[in-house]
Amino acid sequence: EFEEARTTIRVERVGRAALITLDRPRALNALNLQVMNEVVAATEALDRDPECGCVVITGSAKAFAAGADIKEMRSRDYLDMYLADWFAAWDRLGQLRTPTVAAVAGYALGGCELAMLCDVLLAADTAVFGQPEITLGVIPGIGGSQGLTRAVGKAKAMEMCLTGRTMDAAEAERAGLVSRVVPADELLGEALAVAETVAGMSLPAVMMAKEAVARAFETTLAEGVRFERRLFHAVFATADQKEGMAAFVEKRPPAFRHR
Ligand code: HXC
Repeated sequence: EFEEARTTIRVERVGRAALITLDRPRALNALNLQVMNEVVAATEALDRDPECGCVVITGSAKAFAAGADIKEMRSRDYLDMYLADWFAAWDRLGQLRTPTVAAVAGYALGGCELAMLCDVLLAADTAVFGQPEITLGVIPGIGGSQGLTRAVGKAKAMEMCLTGRTMDAAEAERAGLVSRVVPADELLGEALAVAETVAGMSLPAVMMAKEAVARAFETTLAEGVRFERRLFHAVFATADQKEGMAAFVEKRPPAFRHR
C-alpha cells in the first residue's frame, strides 16, 4: 500500500455543514493510522470553525469502513501497540463539541465503532453492522465493546462480539443502534438535511444538548438530571433563547444569532 502520497478522505462544505467522505476504495475504507489521523485532524479543524455547525461522515456505497486495517496491524507486537497507544486518537472524535452525523451504507465492520462515535447514526438499507474482530483472534479496539453494549444491550453486544455475527439495517434500527434507516440512494441527502437542520439551530443550545445527552452515558441519573438543569438555566443567558421564544410567540421562523 502506497497511500501516503494521497489523502484518504475528502472534505467539502455543504452550506453550514461539512461532509467528510472516507476515500480508500481499494481497502474498503479500512481504518489505518492515516485515515484516523486525517479524520481526527479534519474534524478538530471543523470543530474550531464557527462557520461549521455539523459534520457528516460517510463512506462509499459498498463500505462505510471495513474495520481497522488488518494488513497494517498484523505484524505488530504488544509493545508497538502500547507505545503508539494504537487507536487512542479516535477518542478525540467523541470529544468534539460540534455534532456529527454518520451516514452508513454497506459494511460497517469495526466501522461500526467509528459510526458509534458519531452523534446521529443514519443507515442505508444496505448497511451491515458488525464487530468481526473475534474472527481475527482479537477484540474491538475503538470502543466497540462499550459503545455497542450501551447502544443495543448486553445480549446482542455479547453475541456480536463473541461470534462476529452482523446485523442488517432493519435489525440495527430495531435494536436502537441507528437513528433511522433510509433507502440507499437517499442516504447522503438525508444526512445532509439532518446536518443542515442542526446547523440552523442555536449553536450554544446544540452544544449543550449534545453535552447533556452524552452525560447520560457517563454518570448517574440524578447527576445527569442536575447537569441538564444547570445547562437549561444557562441557555437563558443567550440571545438565542430570547429570539427563539419571541419567534414562536410572533409566529415567525427564528433567526438565531449564534449558529
Ligand atoms: C485491510 C482490508 C480490510 C481490512 C478489506 N480489505 N477489509 N484490508 N483491513 N479490515 C481489503 C481486502 O484485503 C481486499 O484487498 C480489498 O479490501 C477488498 O476486500 P475483499 O475482501 O476482496 O471484498 P469482499 O469480498 O467484498 O468482502 C468485503 C468484507 C471483507 C466482507 C468487508 O473485506 C472483510 O471481511 N474484511 C475484514 C473485516 C474485518 O474483519 N474487520 C475488522 C478489522 S480488525 P486486496 O488487496 O485483496 O484487493 C479490527 C480490530 C481492531 O477492527 C479493533 C479496532 C477496530
